[in-house]
Amino acid sequence: MEHLERDVVVIGAGPSGLSAAYELNKAGKSVAVLEARDRVGGRTWTDVMDGATIEIGGQWISPDQTGLYSLINELGIETFERYKEGKSVYLTEEGEAIAYEGADFPVAESTVAEMDKLVKLMNELAADMDPDKPWEHPQAEELDKISFHHFLRQHCTDELACNNVGLFIAGGMLTKPAHTFSALQAVLMASSAGSFDNLVDEDFILDRRIVGSMQGVSKAMAERLGEDIVFLNNPVLKLEWSEDAVVAHGSSITVSAKKVVLAVPPNLYSRISYVPALPRKQQITHQHQSMGLVIKVHAVYETPFWRNEGLSGTCFGPNSLVQELYDNTYIGEETGTLVGFISDLNADAMWELDEEQRRAAILKAMAAYLGEKALEPKVFYLSDFAAEEWTRGAYATSYDLGGLHRFGPAQNENVGPIYFSSSDLAGEGFQHVDGAVRMGRRSAARIIAALDGTTYDQSYDGVATLTAGKDKVNA
Ligand code: FDA
Repeated sequence: MEHLERDVVVIGAGPSGLSAAYELNKAGKSVAVLEARDRVGGRTWTDVMDGATIEIGGQWISPDQTGLYSLINELGIETFERYKEGKSVYLTEEGEAIAYEGADFPVAESTVAEMDKLVKLMNELAADMDPDKPWEHPQAEELDKISFHHFLRQHCTDELACNNVGLFIAGGMLTKPAHTFSALQAVLMASSAGSFDNLVDEDFILDRRIVGSMQGVSKAMAERLGEDIVFLNNPVLKLEWSEDAVVAHGSSITVSAKKVVLAVPPNLYSRISYVPALPRKQQITHQHQSMGLVIKVHAVYETPFWRNEGLSGTCFGPNSLVQELYDNTYIGEETGTLVGFISDLNADAMWELDEEQRRAAILKAMAAYLGEKALEPKVFYLSDFAAEEWTRGAYATSYDLGGLHRFGPAQNENVGPIYFSSSDLAGEGFQHVDGAVRMGRRSAARIIAALDGTTYDQSYDGVATLTAGKDKVNA
């Protein structure tokens, strides 16, 4: 067993933990990062299958994600635009595929009007929220006591409008059925992206991709940190702590440090044995943050055949097994890649089938949008983060009904030397790589201020690099 002494130990080499370590290292603090897996990147992960680049985990970046943008600019990493040319396809309840242009689904005018009304309401609620403190929203308690499913129906009697709007947050973002999370949680999702308008605009929220891959952002940070800082294959299962010191026990390395950044998803906090136990507030809070469930489907074809038919590859069907589909061809590749999403209850059903039945059911659902050519991909791969021991779901964690205003205020409080850092605790960029980066930078800024005896400026938003933000941090 190797033993290291550092100023700070970081647990988890996803984008949040690595952003924290990167900033701490730049500020001259000694750091060690202990990572459970044999790779960095956490929920961002890339592979090449039969010559096609497959983003198994997180991949898109939107214009508001300035935390992630400032990091990639610093690392010299570029982005490219998602393929968006041509018509989208909407699949009706009756199974008819309708090609359409513009932002509105091709549904009855009265349904469009009802959807607009719901979107306006969500925009107004989101505008009144500070995403860093959703529990301070003027209607926080009221909104947290009602499920998003019932909230939508409280304000609208058009079932299709409710389902279409629900799709963007339930299946599309939190990846939980709309009856399991609150309207407050839904408003936070909108507020964290700037507005509900931004969330429902796929050209905004799924705007661009990273040249190299999203995992490449973590790899670039790990490379700059070096092998004597980032240690793979070292799950931390025990953390000893006192007011001013910690000892993190990995499988081949222990690290003694003054502070620890716990940069694992909140559903995994209880994998670690804390000595002494965490306070009751954190122990109870951590039980109410649970992972969503989504299967990300990747299908690679000899050519992006839908483009020749004037289609963008963007498809929506609130009643379909695959509720969303996009052209996900990597820049410069001649093959065509589609990516689809199968969320929550539909995902449960898929994992009940054997492999052949599952493949047939999924491809049939994709063919309902784009025709029979979709039935024969040369690569077919399903991202299965629920089966990954060090994630256990996708995309991220959120609170159960009523949990956000009750437990949320405790989520970012440090416990002595322990600082929690995850995209799932972020305000802006909540559940996204951008939020992971912001949280990592904030944890680093808070720790630097504590170690240096200076005051941490609460307004630090994780966007400016720490060097540029030093005035703020030390104000
Ligand atoms: P993350 O989970 O990434 O990293 C945590 C790390 O901690 C992991 O490496 C894990 O192995 C490690 N760990 C866990 N327990 C440990 C222990 N006890 N000891 C040591 N290490 C431990 N976002 C986005 O911006 N755009 C997108 O398009 C998508 N799409 C998307 C698709 C899919 C399928 C998924 C699963 C996720 C996304 N996301 C996304 C979300 C995005 O990937 C996610 O928000 C960030 O990766 C979270 O970064 P963190 O560093 O907070 O956690």
